[in-house]
Amino acid sequence: MELEYNPFAYAIHEDPYPVYARLREEAPVYQHPSLDFYAYSRHADVLSAIRDADTYTNTRGVSVEPSASSAAAQFAMSFLGMDPPRHTKMRALVSRGFTPRRVAELEPRIRELAVGYLERMRERPHCEFIADLAGVLPMDVISELLGVPAPDRAELRMQADLLVHREEGVFDVPPAAGVAFGKIWSYFGERIASLRRAPRSDLISALLAAEIDGERLTPVEIQSFCNLMIVAGNETTTKLLANALYWLWRNPDQRKLVAEEPAMIPRWIEETLRYDNSTQAIGRVTNRAVTLHGREIPAGKRVLLLVGSANRDERVFPHADAYDIRRDTTASLSFGQGAHFCLGASLARLEGRVVLDEFWRRFSGYEVDPSGSARVHSVSVRGFAALPLELQRG
Ligand code: HEM
Repeated sequence: MELEYNPFAYAIHEDPYPVYARLREEAPVYQHPSLDFYAYSRHADVLSAIRDADTYTNTRGVSVEPSASSAAAQFAMSFLGMDPPRHTKMRALVSRGFTPRRVAELEPRIRELAVGYLERMRERPHCEFIADLAGVLPMDVISELLGVPAPDRAELRMQADLLVHREEGVFDVPPAAGVAFGKIWSYFGERIASLRRAPRSDLISALLAAEIDGERLTPVEIQSFCNLMIVAGNETTTKLLANALYWLWRNPDQRKLVAEEPAMIPRWIEETLRYDNSTQAIGRVTNRAVTLHGREIPAGKRVLLLVGSANRDERVFPHADAYDIRRDTTASLSFGQGAHFCLGASLARLEGRVVLDEFWRRFSGYEVDPSGSARVHSVSVRGFAALPLELQRG
């Protein structure tokens, strides 16, 4: 069968892994026949490209879609759409809000939120895990960091979902996603204007007061940052939580390990990230011509770095297609690497640990209802839009 990797195809969203395996063996530098992109699928190639910011730029965005591939990327996604040295300065400024100490301080509040949702779930024998917890908690956490009031969050979450959703057969950013982007953008525009008049103790107010080399950030730069946080921090963590429950359910031997030893929960999270990461692909554009595995990629070409495939590369992970929470996951590329390594990695891990820990305390068992589950259709985010569970109380 002809080998095609099309990140827009619903069949790929259902299960990309057999295609990844063929890419790694047959076409480690893959060029799509009609869509204008290349893809790297082996761990070594993905890793060296992510680390090489001179050759592979972020300034044309990190998505495969033609209309998202422009120098406007830095407006849509702030410093994720920049290269050093500007990236380094901007990131240094906001990363003060994400030091291990600052993140650890969020734990009691994350636990309180998780317990609130889980206690509500305990009132019924069934739940829809995304609507009842996984889809709401990460948005609450980001919102509290940024200072988004509770009544505004449901609407923002809906727009964030629309932003990543792709219709079958559409090979670019659809109009609905453009409208959603506009709504998120205007929301933060208004929020920033009001916090400029009356600062509070949130991250947006701190950024309004912060300086890089004696210069203040502009409201538009802060707006871009808020947009990045909503896009990068929200969907991905939602997907991690549901993927963890799904894969443990699919692997009863692993479920037994967690049941016997709840201290395995952090390793359960790490293996879920490796095995079925919420971010499957990150994009770059070549600054110069590159030759790899005997193939030349011209300058100015979009290259997708398939982290989801790199994490299943047998050259690095023995029995890579087995979900095994005891394995060494240190080479996993789930949060990227190098300059753009995920700023929210420790926050995502903390949310995962707290939610799964509190879930495990309350429910001695659970079953997934696959007939009611649905996947998101996105070019890079992988996971469930709906995951119904039957809950057995502990
Ligand atoms: C399971 C959850 C998450 C996954 C799998 C994930 C994955 C990633 C990946 C792969 C990158 C690198 C992108 C690239 O190099 O092009 C990244 C960057 C980023 N992530 Fe995450 N992320 C997660 C959660 C979060 C959270 C909770 C936040 C927010 C607090 C966040 C904020 C960011 C930011 C700001 C960047 C850009 C960093 C930079 O450009 O320097 N992420 N993430």
